[in-house]
Amino acid sequence: MDNIVILTGAGISAESGLGTFRDAGGLWDEYDLDDVATPEGFARDPALVHGFYNARRANCLSAAPNAAHAALARLEAAWPGRVTIVTQNIDDLHERAGSHRVVHMHGEVRKALCTGCGHRWDAPAEMSVATPCPACTAARARPDVVWFGEMPYRMEEIGALLETATLFAAIGTSGTVYPAAGFVAEARRQGARTVELNAEPSEVAGLFGTLRRGPATREVPRWVDELLARQ
Ligand code: APR
Repeated sequence: MDNIVILTGAGISAESGLGTFRDAGGLWDEYDLDDVATPEGFARDPALVHGFYNARRANCLSAAPNAAHAALARLEAAWPGRVTIVTQNIDDLHERAGSHRVVHMHGEVRKALCTGCGHRWDAPAEMSVATPCPACTAARARPDVVWFGEMPYRMEEIGALLETATLFAAIGTSGTVYPAAGFVAEARRQGARTVELNAEPSEVAGLFGTLRRGPATREVPRWVDELLARQ
């Protein structure tokens, strides 16, 4: 039976009302990512960056998981083999839908990180440059998210997962940001079957054995139902 690794991107949360980055009107149309998603931007204007993530944290809190998140939770619960979600998303909609094996390679907007002592804690709704670290009291907090130019989290673990995956799926990601965009090639190299579920072809669509076009809330439940019916 299959060991399944599922990479998700902003597209799986789009129908929950959370913006994507590169679709028309996406976040990178609204904000300059150099200002709000790089260490240099944070050093230049931490208040602007805190404001950006405070807004995204509020959006996440008011959003609800959709049928695609729910279908992946159902798959994890019913599948006899291992199902692991590796998400680029910083929202917690997978967890709130009931998924347990979730790897946040770009961090989580609900977490805060102290740049002084490395302590992590549940972020307050509104973070600012004055937010004190509960462990060392320094006012040196940042959102616990991975910015451009920083190393994504848990990459060794992800590499091991891709080594043993027999089925790799990518859902709602444009395939434009590495290392995530390279996962399909790693999975193929060791013989995994590959499927892309997306509203439109990603930049790496050509590397997938199967393409399923359409909104995640339609395609992901269908895909999960087919997998469970076949096992
Ligand atoms: N259903 C399925 N796919 C969708 C839907 C939907 N309802 N809406 C949008 N999509 C697809 C788009 O076609 C696109 O391929 O989701 C993808 C969104 O792409 P991006 O906005 O680039 O988001 P993502 O791939 O997650 O970005 C990767 O870039 O900015 C960084 O750190 C950020 O994690 C993010 C990374």
